[in-house]
Amino acid sequence: MERVKGFRDFYPDDMAVREKIFGECERWSRIFGFRKIDFPSVEYREIYKIKSGEELAQQSFSFNDKNGREIALLPEATPTVVRMLTARKDLPRPLKWYSIAKFWRYEEPQAGRFREFYQLNADIFGPDSAESDAEVIMLAMKILDSVGLETRYQIRINSREIMQGMLENLGCTNTGRALHIIDGMHKQELDRFRNEILELLPLGDDSRTFLGLLETPIEIEQVESIIGSSGKLFNGLEERIGRLIQTVKLCKKSSRSSIGIDFSVVRGLAYYTGVVFEAFDVDGEYRAILGGGRYDRLASSFTGDAIPAVGFGMGDAVIELVMKKYGEWSPGRSSTAFYLCRSADITIEETVDLVSKLRDNGMECIYDLSSRSLASQLKDASKNNCSFAIILGLNERKTGTLSVKNLTTGVQESVSISNSIDYLRNLRNAV
Ligand code: HAM
Repeated sequence: MERVKGFRDFYPDDMAVREKIFGECERWSRIFGFRKIDFPSVEYREIYKIKSGEELAQQSFSFNDKNGREIALLPEATPTVVRMLTARKDLPRPLKWYSIAKFWRYEEPQAGRFREFYQLNADIFGPDSAESDAEVIMLAMKILDSVGLETRYQIRINSREIMQGMLENLGCTNTGRALHIIDGMHKQELDRFRNEILELLPLGDDSRTFLGLLETPIEIEQVESIIGSSGKLFNGLEERIGRLIQTVKLCKKSSRSSIGIDFSVVRGLAYYTGVVFEAFDVDGEYRAILGGGRYDRLASSFTGDAIPAVGFGMGDAVIELVMKKYGEWSPGRSSTAFYLCRSADITIEETVDLVSKLRDNGMECIYDLSSRSLASQLKDASKNNCSFAIILGLNERKTGTLSVKNLTTGVQESVSISNSIDYLRNLRNAV
């Protein structure tokens, strides 16, 4: 039986690393004061046509329900989260929400891209400030830092408003099309991109400067001098630039990893209005690890009330590639601490009694389910990566003890059954 194209199975070792990543997502989201939400796996498909843009609507897996309404499996969380937000006007703002869910997009499967993937989403609703822009980026950076990627990725940040302003300063009359072309810049030959974008810009030095800016990411320390030598490109955008610099400065307080301005990052989704950002492997390999930005007008397109919003989504696929590249994709040891081995003289009832006692005291414990020899049980314990084997035989029964073997060192000790729970708990906690 073949697996459906673009979908993945997760075996325990890979699942263990994935759980570790999601664990860090949960841990840091809570440390930053985000609260967890969840939502259905389906929405009416038209929501994506209106809110996300035609590309995402085209990529959605959809079907007609029995009433003939077109239903889509969620390709992203943002419209859903905003639908939830606008349905509850009583919730005090600012709100910080996060979720971890599966999403579906009918894309061509390739490195880091599947048709089903997990995504962490974290968003802040209410404030429109550099602090809130920085808060979501700092959360993203903390998560990446804590899974072993500190200084191995870079955040590239930009602002849709600055891009809009620069294009208007240049006299571009179709800024929407220009942003769309810029969004596709790294997916095609540079010469082809240059020709396409220059068709929308007047001939001259300013357009050439603009092209140069798209092609070279910059550190915030360079911004002042770049603005000074960019003619009229940045006229009227001083405040926006100041806010972007402030956002970057705040992020630098919380992480040693790199963050710089990249004018080619505009993000494809239709709803972004302000800051936009993505994280990439530090060598620029692979697609974006995560992406996000500010989308202040999405809520008003549902209800009429404007609610400033900023957030990001991080999938589980590119982070896997990057962690593998740096040797950080390791499942670690299995978490089963004990394997209870019994000799043939010990009844299954006695065995299950002891196993249950351990389990009721919160200790991971497995035992042989098919009555094999003691030697096979010990082999099985090692195969299962258990830390300790507890041996129960006639001798132990006679003396009211358990033999406990450390499977890493081979050292075996004897403990009286009456003290065994505390003893075993200490052993497990010391691993
Ligand atoms: P996005 O850029 O479409 O943004 O996706 C964000 C991240 O989800 C990507 O950087 C990637 O990690 C992951 N991702 C997207 N598509 C796939 C795929 N086909 N296979 C594997 N991973 C994928 C959004 O979805 C926005 N809604 C994020 C957001 C939240 N903006 C504000 N709040």
